[in-house]
Amino acid sequence: NILDQIKRLEELFTVETEQLKAITKHFVDELNQGLTVEGGDIPMVPTWCMGKPKGDETGTFLAIDMGGTNLRICEINLPEAAGAFEITQSKYRLPEELKSGEANELWDYVAHSIEKFVKQNHDIDELGQLPLGFTFSYPVSQESIDHGVLQRWTKGFNVKGVEGEDVVPQFEAALAKRKLPIKLTALVNDTTGTLIASAYTNPEVQIGCIFGTGCNAAYMDKCGNIPKIAHLNLDPEIPMAINCEWGAFDNQHKVLPRTSYDIIIDKASPRPGQQTFEKMVAGLYLGEIFRLTLVDLHEHPDCLMFKDQAITKLSQPYGLDASFLSKIEVDPFENLDETAELFHSTLDIKPSRHELELIRRLAELIGTRAARLTACGIAAICTKQNWTTAHVGADGSVFTHYPHFKARQAQALKEILDWPANQGKGAGDPIEVVAAEDGSGVGAALIAALTIKRVQDGN
Ligand code: BG6
Ligand code: GLC
Repeated sequence: NILDQIKRLEELFTVETEQLKAITKHFVDELNQGLTVEGGDIPMVPTWCMGKPKGDETGTFLAIDMGGTNLRICEINLPEAAGAFEITQSKYRLPEELKSGEANELWDYVAHSIEKFVKQNHDIDELGQLPLGFTFSYPVSQESIDHGVLQRWTKGFNVKGVEGEDVVPQFEAALAKRKLPIKLTALVNDTTGTLIASAYTNPEVQIGCIFGTGCNAAYMDKCGNIPKIAHLNLDPEIPMAINCEWGAFDNQHKVLPRTSYDIIIDKASPRPGQQTFEKMVAGLYLGEIFRLTLVDLHEHPDCLMFKDQAITKLSQPYGLDASFLSKIEVDPFENLDETAELFHSTLDIKPSRHELELIRRLAELIGTRAARLTACGIAAICTKQNWTTAHVGADGSVFTHYPHFKARQAQALKEILDWPANQGKGAGDPIEVVAAEDGSGVGAALIAALTIKRVQDGN
């Protein structure tokens, strides 16, 4: 009966080519809707990052990157040589309790970390004012590049007193308390940072994507293609990076093949009804989808997975992360020894050989579904923009570390876009997803540099 269960899971998690195409079509509609005055579920935020770097940007910048897992603080020096940069950085793990605490605790932690970093590298009294690019990777509405009102927390964050507020004054107040000589110049999303940093070294890059704790993309459009800012009468030819916030795709549940496990994840999350797409594809959720499926199989009267074994540890919500699945996926199928050891050491469970095979297949199915669904987003942006060729700069733990993610995504792009048989391999494909060079550190510094130049030029 374990074999029957494997078959059932395959049916549940496999997304066939025709489904991918239908999802992509709906994705294009939602991207367009998000740009209208009425708006839609996908926020499609104009970022006020107007143009790509030329390679002649220079100066010293601070960049902080508040993603979902880490807080990274960098000092970036853009020297005269085009496309080059020097970076000094420190990484701090964001304490779990801050993610659902009070706003002032969060900002104080960030300011304190910046203070430590700056003091390590400089004599603060001799330091002039440093411009700062702040990569704040949550949906914010921006009326200018140095402000942003948080629409809602994503990625499991639930800090009180920030939603609906401009995050910049809150952050600046924490800096001011510590008398830090820092001026926030640009508030940037990680996808925009990735787009700009990638375009710095590869001008063919048109899209920046994050496949990590969360999942999202930004792309370069023209002001004339953005109806919701038409009232500003900007030159229609000027480029503008749009932070899609595509995690919110299909919040109306029209096309995504959600399973009962996806529905449980959504209901138990701090923001039910939000980020439907993200909750199926992003690293934060992959381990939880896997865990919920196994618990269900254990309880299933026809299956009796891990029969007569205690599943106390497996019952812990969010007890397994995406790296757990990665380890299972790289274990040689012949013996699955590592997987057996992982289950034993992490969960006090001793799976049988058949159970190990189910575990392995389930990890593959969840990882494959995620990679294939993300291809719909990339295909949708390219279709919407009529781009038959494009480079996509990508970053994030899933993209960088999850086994076969890139190959599965490239294969799905081929299926969606009907490429010939010899394509869909990644390198050399018409739409090629390439690893970004330090997404948001350098990206945020470059955007700060572009912003200072734009202000100096009076634009
Ligand atoms: C990093 C980027 O490499 O990837 C960050 O510099 C981004 O800006 C992050 O937020 C996303 O990955 P993860 O896995 O940390 O969410
Ligand atoms: C979430 C955030 C988004 C970010 C993405 C990747 O989707 O809302 O802003 O870009 O995660 O970190």
